[in-house]
Amino acid sequence: MTDSSETQVSEAQIAVHWREEEYYPPPEKFVKQANANDPAILDRFTEDKFPDCFIEYADLLTWDKRWDTVLDTSTAPFWKWFVGGKLNASYNCVDRHAAANPDKTAVIWVPELEADETLFISYGQLLRQVNEFAALLSDFAGLKKGDRVTLHMPMVPEAVVTMLACARLGVIHSQVFGGFSGNACGTRIADSGSRILITMDGYYRAGAMQDHKVKADEAVAEAARQDQEVDKVLVWRRKEGEYQSKIPMVDGRDFFVNDIIGKYAGHEVAPVSLDATDSLFLMYTSGTTGRPKGAQHSVGGYMAYVAGTSKYYQDIHQDDMYWCLADIGWITGHSYIVYGPLALGTTTILYEGVPNYPDAGRPWRIAEKLGVNIFHTSPTSIRMLRKVGPDEPTKYNYHFKCMTTVGEPIEPEVWRWYYHSVGKDQAAITDTWWQTETGGFLGSTLPGLQPMKPGSCGPGALGIFPVIYDEDRNEVPKGSGTAGNICIRNPWPSIMQTVWGQPERFLDVYYRKYNTDPNSKDWHDWPYFCGDGALEAEDGYFRILGRIDDVINVAGHRLGTKELESAALTVPEVAEAAAVPVIDDIRGRMVEMYVSLKPGFEASPAMEAKVTGAIETEIGKIARPKNVWIVPDMPKTRSGKIMRRVIASVSNFTDVGDVTTLANPEVVEGIRHHVQSAKVAKGDAPRELTETELAEIKAFGAE
Ligand code: WT7
Repeated sequence: MTDSSETQVSEAQIAVHWREEEYYPPPEKFVKQANANDPAILDRFTEDKFPDCFIEYADLLTWDKRWDTVLDTSTAPFWKWFVGGKLNASYNCVDRHAAANPDKTAVIWVPELEADETLFISYGQLLRQVNEFAALLSDFAGLKKGDRVTLHMPMVPEAVVTMLACARLGVIHSQVFGGFSGNACGTRIADSGSRILITMDGYYRAGAMQDHKVKADEAVAEAARQDQEVDKVLVWRRKEGEYQSKIPMVDGRDFFVNDIIGKYAGHEVAPVSLDATDSLFLMYTSGTTGRPKGAQHSVGGYMAYVAGTSKYYQDIHQDDMYWCLADIGWITGHSYIVYGPLALGTTTILYEGVPNYPDAGRPWRIAEKLGVNIFHTSPTSIRMLRKVGPDEPTKYNYHFKCMTTVGEPIEPEVWRWYYHSVGKDQAAITDTWWQTETGGFLGSTLPGLQPMKPGSCGPGALGIFPVIYDEDRNEVPKGSGTAGNICIRNPWPSIMQTVWGQPERFLDVYYRKYNTDPNSKDWHDWPYFCGDGALEAEDGYFRILGRIDDVINVAGHRLGTKELESAALTVPEVAEAAAVPVIDDIRGRMVEMYVSLKPGFEASPAMEAKVTGAIETEIGKIARPKNVWIVPDMPKTRSGKIMRRVIASVSNFTDVGDVTTLANPEVVEGIRHHVQSAKVAKGDAPRELTETELAEIKAFGAE
């Protein structure tokens, strides 16, 4: 690391100036009815009350046995919450509400085709379905507590039933986003050691039936290549009596759930009383290496935290109509479509398709028809709906009391459209900052008590104490206008337990950087490193700048550059590959790939298509690059490292900086000319970047 070309600007050193946005006070009507409208709640969660403050969240659940210890730090930083406590997540999300209120609607499913009927599932019906499927999982699939099972399901109520049936048995579900490819699913099957895959034959997306079963076959084959055999593939049918796939069912391996579930009609399976520290699910996410990380989440701490934050931050009351547009295959879907809202006994809506199908008015029609009053989505969807139908919301008669945005930074301009047009100036907005690993919100305003500020998520959530450190672990003071690495000083109940099968990686990625004493059992010595650059304003509100690792956040989904590059390298002609982000006005960031070819191969559109195809096969359409640039050589340091920062600057038309210390500075100008003139010709040159975007590009690829 002595080579000066490797000393790059880190996020922590960048001073970012921006206009402080004005506060928006929470709407009065909202405040009156808010779950958190008495400032006394802030006193209940001050640092001197930690960790007992979280008992308030745990008390939202029904426990078979109360815990002995709230927080056990003896195996720091593998925190244990509510130790000695016993409970079951499925019981908490279904049974107790079915007993009190069997006819209340638990789940509403809106199929993508507007002419198709909306499905209402009561708590009583959900209980029956969960019981029957749990009986099938245990009897037919032989699953028991602690086993892992992979789910690769679209946005259908069967996904909710499957998750809750696993939770009932203590089977650890590992759900893979439906849009991921068969290969990506197979890698996750292998990593988790699942021998059962649960999927659906097809689903609607943008008006067309997708063949989803085909991915199951690819997934099983990929898992086998990685030495994991799948014994059974359980296939739900999207439409009763039909099969949506061109791929035949494999005899003895593949089974239609709908054909065997009848055998379990009326069966009841007692919810298994689990330790609070048992695991509920795995959720894979990307990091700096190619191997995905399975964030392992607990039953007790996780459930307590998502119930508590759903109550205070989403302001969910039992009689609310709650709609979160996220996909059930991501952490947002787990925490804030399924477990949080159902723990509170509310009605949660599941929409199968894309928000703008068949037109930009669809979400607002759904909201009007179903009386949605809490709405939750991502900046990418908001940007897209704003672009395709800026005036659509005014045409529909719905009323949101609060709205959430999640997954990426939201531009103040986009925030204002969300507030004025979608929220009709009457809804409180929470910009919730958090991660797959954190299980629930880390930063957000409390909607009834703290004013909103566009572009900032707000202060740390209740009982969460963020801090910004520079590279040397000095605290970056608030109001200094200097960015740094945001960390959370304390553990909290829904922090992942570990990275599945990779405890060393858990330590390395999240704790090593700022831990001063690896033997310490005191939580104060273990700040959690989030991997985001951020600034803290004078008022204690945080502005999240984005990832500081080699991760590209596309439409709120994390894609690791290493995964993208390994995918490109599966093309035999490709010698080297580098993935960089480009700023995109709708999706936030998109991926651009740079590849160089082995000697004797020529650049061509067919070669570009091959690289794109490989990425779709290995990861999924979500990762599809905006452009593939075939270059004669990559800019490199003298030690041979590809300078992603330089090519990221080229893609975004920003200053490439000092390249004189590179091993091959002469290639930069050629790449710049080639890429930028092609982009200009396509009308694909970006607008002028904001200061924070510039900082991000400048820091990209820094280590
Ligand atoms: C990364 C986590 C949180 C669930 C969905 C994404 C970015 C997340 C915000 C926000 C600015 C945000 C961060 C974070 N991020 N929420 N409100 N404002 N950035 O989960 O895939 O684990 O990604 O998304 O960079 O580290 P994920």
